[in-house]
Amino acid sequence: MKLLFHCGLIFCAVSSVAEAFFDNNEVFGKNRQFIGVRVNEILEAKYPNLHLILVNPYNKSQTAAFTLQNLTTIYSNSWFNPTRNTVIYAFGFTKNIDDSLSQTILDAYVKRGGHNIIVIDWSAYNGVTVADYPAAIENMKVIGELVGARIAMTFRNFATLRFHLVGHSLGAHLVAYINRGIPKSFLTPQIPKIIGLDPAGPYMYNSSYNHHPLNASDASTVLVIHTDMIAFGAPVKCGTIDFYPNGGGKTEVQPGCPPLDFVDQFVATNFCSHQMAVYYYAESVANKGTNAFAATKCSSYDDFVAGKCRSRSQQMGYSAREYMTGDFYLQTNKIAPFDRGSLGVTYSSSTA
Ligand SMILES: *[C@@H]1O[C@H](CO)[C@@H](O)[C@H](O)[C@H]1NC(C)=O
Ligand SMILES: *[C@@H]1O[C@H](CO)[C@@H](O)[C@H](O)[C@H]1NC(C)=O
Ligand SMILES: *[C@@H]1O[C@H](CO)[C@@H](O)[C@H](O)[C@H]1NC(C)=O
Ligand SMILES: *[C@@H]1O[C@H](CO)[C@@H](O)[C@H](O)[C@H]1NC(C)=O
Repeated sequence: MKLLFHCGLIFCAVSSVAEAFFDNNEVFGKNRQFIGVRVNEILEAKYPNLHLILVNPYNKSQTAAFTLQNLTTIYSNSWFNPTRNTVIYAFGFTKNIDDSLSQTILDAYVKRGGHNIIVIDWSAYNGVTVADYPAAIENMKVIGELVGARIAMTFRNFATLRFHLVGHSLGAHLVAYINRGIPKSFLTPQIPKIIGLDPAGPYMYNSSYNHHPLNASDASTVLVIHTDMIAFGAPVKCGTIDFYPNGGGKTEVQPGCPPLDFVDQFVATNFCSHQMAVYYYAESVANKGTNAFAATKCSSYDDFVAGKCRSRSQQMGYSAREYMTGDFYLQTNKIAPFDRGSLGVTYSSSTA
């Protein structure tokens, strides 16, 4: 069937020469066969340097950049294999694909193997200095929704490709917006799994701004690792499965991190706890151990410390059991390897 592009004032739509009709953002042919997704090319044009980067699953330093417009050609790239699982990673405020956090995630997935690895490169729009933060939030929302429409159009069946979206800090909210950009009538209207690594706290949870942070309805499974609830991370539970390693950074920094400097709030060392979510998660990806990051369901960190919860019913990170929802606690080591295996559910003051 021949497809044409028709551009209206706001949307450009893929439509067939045969009759087509629209249902929300989906386009169907006259026999209700799926044709495409309406995408907003006018908004897309505001982000010419937005790329989706496909990483060679065997060598992370080899990459191919796609724009939203040529993303569909990803199927002809040999680094993309539709029989593999697919992970999409979004880094946070001021970060990029070359920084140590992104590289740690890439190393972990390359080591584990079996994944198509895609990075949302929004580094042209995610800020340079602290003053850029409000603008980065606004870009994050628009970029997330634009990517959502395009990945719906490109991949169509998220279940088959076993998609999971991973985001750190503002990237955790970005992946929520990716899910929100998928047409609600789409054949797979929901991303199966989102992993939020210490979702950004500042502004996102302040009612003075009408922001809509990542929440439990943004994917079938929303797994969150909280490491800095006191400063740069989300101050509240926001997933279907929430992990609070070492208490989630609610009252104290992560083990091995320097004390917070309250005078110079943005000094690099103050981001230590916020970044630990990435290091814990990456280790859980690379480590296939059956008891890796064992975690216990518990109603509070105090109860966990008091030894009231030792179920080992959950594992933090990649291997989390999706049907086991709720709040989970564990202890980690101060230095890598952070995993304490099944010991992690038994609080030890000498580890803290
Ligand atoms: C990975 O790719 C880089 C860049 O192309 C190359 O220099 C390097 O040798 C490759 N590494 C391996 C292990 O093949
Ligand atoms: C996609 O388009 C961009 C911009 O035109 C180009 O730089 C890039 O090489 C294209 N990617 C592929 C895989 O065709
Ligand atoms: C929320 O934002 C307002 C407006 O910028 C600010 O005055 C207030 O201190 C913030 N509240 C918190 C808890 O950060
Ligand atoms: C999650 O966020 C979306 C988008 O803001 C909103 O529509 C939905 O009601 C929220 N769900 C919950 C459980 O808060």
